[in-house]
Formats: sequence, C-alpha cells, structure tokens
Amino acid sequence: STLVPIPQPPGYPIIGNIFDIDPETPAASFERIAAEYGEIYMMNFIGNKVIAVNSQKLAEEVCDERRFHKSVANALEEIRVLTGDALFTAYHGEENWGIAHRILLPAFGPASILGMFDEMYDILSQLVLKWERFGPKHAIDPADDFTRLAFDTIAFCAMSYRLNSFYTEGVPPFVEAMGSFLKEAGARPQRPGLVQRMMGKSNAKYEADQKKMMDLARAIVEDRRANPSDRKDLLNAMLNGKDPVTGKALTDLSIMQQMITFLIAGHETTSGLLSFLIYFVISNPEVYAKLRAEVDAVVGTDRIRPEHLPRLAYMNAAMRESMRLKGTIPGIGVKPMQDEVIGGKYFIPKGTHIFVMASVIGRDPAVYGDDANEFKPERMLDGKFEALPPKAWLPFGSGTRACIGRAFAWQEAQMAIATLFQKFDFRFADPEYKLQINETLTIKPKNLRIYAIPRKDTT
Ligand code: HEM
Repeated sequence: STLVPIPQPPGYPIIGNIFDIDPETPAASFERIAAEYGEIYMMNFIGNKVIAVNSQKLAEEVCDERRFHKSVANALEEIRVLTGDALFTAYHGEENWGIAHRILLPAFGPASILGMFDEMYDILSQLVLKWERFGPKHAIDPADDFTRLAFDTIAFCAMSYRLNSFYTEGVPPFVEAMGSFLKEAGARPQRPGLVQRMMGKSNAKYEADQKKMMDLARAIVEDRRANPSDRKDLLNAMLNGKDPVTGKALTDLSIMQQMITFLIAGHETTSGLLSFLIYFVISNPEVYAKLRAEVDAVVGTDRIRPEHLPRLAYMNAAMRESMRLKGTIPGIGVKPMQDEVIGGKYFIPKGTHIFVMASVIGRDPAVYGDDANEFKPERMLDGKFEALPPKAWLPFGSGTRACIGRAFAWQEAQMAIATLFQKFDFRFADPEYKLQINETLTIKPKNLRIYAIPRKDTT
C-alpha cells in the first residue's frame, strides 16, 4: 500500500502550530481544525508532534488495545504530582493501576452503585430544596449547582464524607483548592520552564492546594481506620480489599490519591452532563414534552425508586444523545506501541500522542448521517445505541482505561434528571441564549442561566 502524508496546518518555523490552538479553548481549536482537515491531521508544537483522529473508522483502529494504549500527557501528566499512579493518571503498565483496578471494579459495579441510591437521593434532595427556595424568578446557574451535586455525591457515596457545599457560603475550601489546582495544572504545560520557576506566588498556591486536598484525604482515611464501619463504600473496599492477582493491598498514600482522583474525575464531568442535557432539552420543546411525559408516567408523584430507572428509556436516550453532541471530556489520548500505519495509508511513529477526538467522532456523518449536528434522542432508542459501530460514541473513553465511574455517574444523572423534571418546569432566563462553552479539564456551558419553576401538578 502507498503511504500518504498526514495533513498539517501550515504553522510557523520552530514553534509550529502553537498559534493554531487557543489556550483558553484548546478543544474548540482542535474541532475547528478538524472541520477543515477531515479525518486526521497532525500538529507540531515546538517539535512535539501530535495527531488528531476525527472519524469512527480511524478511532476503531487507534482504540485497538493490541496496538495502542492510553497516553498520559499535558494536564493529565501535570496532575500526577497530586494523584501519582492512581487510576486516572497511571501510565500504561504501572503495577498500582492493576491492583487498584481489580480491587475497585466490583465496588463500581451495578450492584454496589444501586446500593448508593439512598445516599445519592440525600444529596439530590438538597439541590431540589435549594431550587424550590430560590423560587421561579431566580436565574440559576445550573453548572454551578450541578457541580455541588456531583462533588457532594461522590464524597458522600465514596467515603461517607459530607462536603456540604449546598450549605456553604461561596465555595468550600476543599473545592476551591481543587478548582485552582486543576486550572493551574491545565495552564502549566503551555508555559516555558523558566517562566514557571519565576511564578513564585502561583507555585506556592499550587503546593498549598495539593496539601489541602491531601490533608483532607488523610484525615478521612485515619478517621475510618480509627472508627471502622461495615459500610459498603469505596473507601472500605480500598481499605479492606486485596488484589486477587498479586495478593497486594493498596497503600494509604494510594488510597488517598484514588479518593482525590474520584473527586477530580467525577465532579465536573457529571455536572457538565447535567448542564448540557438541560440546555438541549429546553432548546427542543418536542423532546422536552416527551421526556416530561415519560417521567410523569413512570415516576408520577412518587419519590424516585431504583425500579423506575430502567423504565425511563427516552430519558436515557436523551442523555446519550446529549453526550454524543457535548461529551464533557472532548477526547482521549492514546499512542502506538510500535510504528503503525492506520487507515492503510497514514504512518504514525511509535509513541506519538494521538488525540481521539470524541466530540468530532460523535458527529461523524458516515455514522450519524447528514443531521449529525441535531439533537435527536430517537437515534439512541430501541436498540439503535447498541447497534452503533465500535467507537462511534466515546464520552466515557475506551477499553480497559475507560471510565470506571460510568455506572455511578449514570445513576446519579438519571435520578437527578427524573426528579428535577418531576418537580420543576425549566425555561432559559435569557430566551435568546446561544450555547457557549467554558473549557477547563472538561467542557461546560458558559453563562447558561435557567428558571426552575416549581410544578403544581406533581409536587
Ligand atoms: C476515566 C469520562 C464520571 C472516575 C474516564 C475517561 C473518560 C471519563 C472519558 C477516560 C479518560 C482517558 O482515557 O484518559 C467521564 C464522564 C463522566 C465520568 C463523561 C460523567 C458523566 C466519573 C465518576 C467517577 C469517575 C463519577 C468516579 C466516581 C474515573 C476514573 C477513571 C475515569 C477513576 C480512570 C479509569 C482508569 O484509567 O482506570 N472518565 N467520567 N468518572 N473516570 Fe470517568
């Protein structure tokens, strides 16, 4: 077969394509270039080559775990100063990844997650109460309160810790520390080393933030060791579990790093899912009517119960569709174990960082057709989701390094959406609102404000 060069935007000598990427919105930049260059392109950042893969067909190849594995780079690599070789940030092949993965997999399985139902409802009811108290005329920032929901839910379900962010004026100190740490971690890869070393104040804050998070994680571990309980939460699974393969347990340091990892990986992502979903549903009145009718038929005026969840098929489809169009993690990183050729013609040297652009692949017209940009939950209904070609829907990543918290996030979101549409009618505060995106480690709607109007017929 004949090789063809991978297309590359022109760029400049030495620095290459840095100016093609807006540091405030890197994912949007990659998407814009994809619209111009198609299924694959290459970027050069001061000699560092990065490839973006934008079609389902090529994604299928680069997600083949016999040839490619996860690549930890950029912000993810920065975060290792805090989370080390915990699940999210472990390099391919690190021993602790395997130990933690095997110990934690059952604890993140469907049965355990169902066991967290009442705890999830506890936190959700705090959100509902807050929105009821706001009343129908208060412009709510949904991303903000969904972040509180997601944060408090993980802390409570995973380690029985109440962050109480619905009861804190402003942002709780732990949440502030994590937010500013992640922002700094995202900015660092773009700064020259010398500049970084001169930024004394922000370096000191970076370290103080890490210490704040580690101190809380340590306090939680020590408290549980001093006061053992038979709760079936993730913390007990880690404290008491033994890896069936190596017979090893997790060290306290690793347990602390895993807990911080769950908080990082699970708060903005779930919050973004809920925020985009509410945006898409309000924007599509027909979808809104169907979703509400389903919630009313299945849940009615009852408090939501586990047996309702599998019956909310349309809602489920709307969630999948929302994530297809606006997955909160726009892409994942992989790299080839050997020199590779993909698509029968593109040569990729061993170790090259590849962005698998989930946000672009989710709109691949070869899979989703000419209306790929439209929000249509019907395309995810009646077995159509299960029948999608491999790697056409990647919001939770792929393979062994895919999201371990997927069932957790899904149940939390199902419960929240069903309960919120049961209790409220939603409108945009600004009827002219056009979707804008805020990028951090994840993406979220920017400046979205909604009214939550308590329903009189179901409450
Ligand atoms: C990994 C998305 C919720 C914990 C991932 C990955 C994605 C993802 C795309 C793969 C990252 C990569 O390949 O580099 C999401 C989305 C969520 C969500 C969209 C919500 C809608 C959660 C929650 C938790 C969690 C709630 C924990 C309670 C993790 C962990 C990993 C991971 C530990 C690393 C797994 C490994 O490499 O072994 N997630 N996630 N996630 N996620 Fe999630």
